[in-house]
Amino acid sequence: MKKIKRNPLEGKNITVGVTGSIAAYKSADLVSKLVQVGANVSVIMSKNAENFVGKNTFEALSHNPVITNYFENFSDMNIDHVHLAKNSDLIIIAPITANSIAKISHGITDDPITGTISASKSPVILAPAMDAGMYENNVSKNLKSLDKNRFCILEPQIGRLASGITGKGRMVDPNFILENAMLLMSKTGDLKTRKIIISAGGTREFIDPVRYIGNKSSGKMGYAIATAARDRGANVSLFSAKNISLPVPLGVINHYIETSSDLEKTILPNAESSDIIFMAAAVCDFKPKNIEINKIKKNPKENNFNIELEKTSDIIKQLKNKNITKIAFAAETENIIENAKIKLKEKNLDMIIANDVSREDIGFNSDNNQVTLIQKNGSITELPVMPKTELAHILLDETISLIS
Ligand SMILES: Cc1cc2nc3c(=O)[nH]c(=O)nc-3n(C[C@H](O)[C@H](O)[C@H](O)COP(=O)(O)O)c2cc1C
Repeated sequence: MKKIKRNPLEGKNITVGVTGSIAAYKSADLVSKLVQVGANVSVIMSKNAENFVGKNTFEALSHNPVITNYFENFSDMNIDHVHLAKNSDLIIIAPITANSIAKISHGITDDPITGTISASKSPVILAPAMDAGMYENNVSKNLKSLDKNRFCILEPQIGRLASGITGKGRMVDPNFILENAMLLMSKTGDLKTRKIIISAGGTREFIDPVRYIGNKSSGKMGYAIATAARDRGANVSLFSAKNISLPVPLGVINHYIETSSDLEKTILPNAESSDIIFMAAAVCDFKPKNIEINKIKKNPKENNFNIELEKTSDIIKQLKNKNITKIAFAAETENIIENAKIKLKEKNLDMIIANDVSREDIGFNSDNNQVTLIQKNGSITELPVMPKTELAHILLDETISLIS
């Protein structure tokens, strides 16, 4: 099986600059996370940053020597002071001080961080951290002078600052910096020109204002596909059930829906211009024919209560554009493959992903899944149990081979 490229930072050369802010300790976490996702990280510290965190911390985390000035003998900078500038796919300065922002915006290059940025053409992420007054007075003006096409500025957050006051100056969370790095580096992925539509979660079909018919879908599979597609450069739109508590992947456009008819009305106009559609949502097959305006009361004289149900409409069957690659899930509890084959044909899909939702260890709400892929041409591939995040990449690999 083809090697799965799990994330766009794998194998990338990333230079992390750390400057003299109290938030410098947070960049240790960032470096650790970057290394964990497979990036090759080189750290440069400003002289003042060393007052906050020792360079040994970054050396241990990055497995690379840390540069603190141009003239250290161990580093290639001694011979070629722009060597990191030439070799970095991405530069991240986190935290960046008011002082270093001023230097960058005025072209000053008296240290290896500002020098590397100045000599490089790679994208740069800046995560400022400082006192709120400093940020308001000069820094926002200096940041505005930077080229928007190259510098991605992650504005500081409002919160309690090291000075004890509350204001705008806290460096963003390292996870958010990582997500932004992923998004920036995903642009050249194998799905870069593709528009992908994904539905996720379970619909709710209302009986009255407070009661509904629903299902156990958590949205995890749809969100895993959205994240994987985003990481591979696709233009991704999610249509997810309102009750999903998962964070929407950065860079993905999300539309919240609740009922099957919400989903139908929202997804169809967007889907017509897409290249690929993944119906990962568990759309209820039936809905109450009438929704009571007021909460239904218990009648003391009646033991039974009947609700008349009608079929919900088949969303994927309504797509007019014949060029869209259509993929759906078949959540089954019996005769899994046979039932999925019928659905594949009925809905005229390119591929169906059959999963056994009667098993507790896989399917709904689990982090793992075990599926069988059935393609239009009759080919059947049974996959082993694996994390949904991994399965998402295999599904995208299969989709790419379907398109080509
Ligand atoms: C305890 C302490 C905390 C500081 N925190 C910040 C900060 O969060 N942001 C900032 O812009 N400057 C901060 N400074 C001031 C910078 O360290 C100072 O401007 C220095 O010149 C920055 O140099 P550099 O940009 O080369 O690292 C702090 C100084 C001290 C003593």
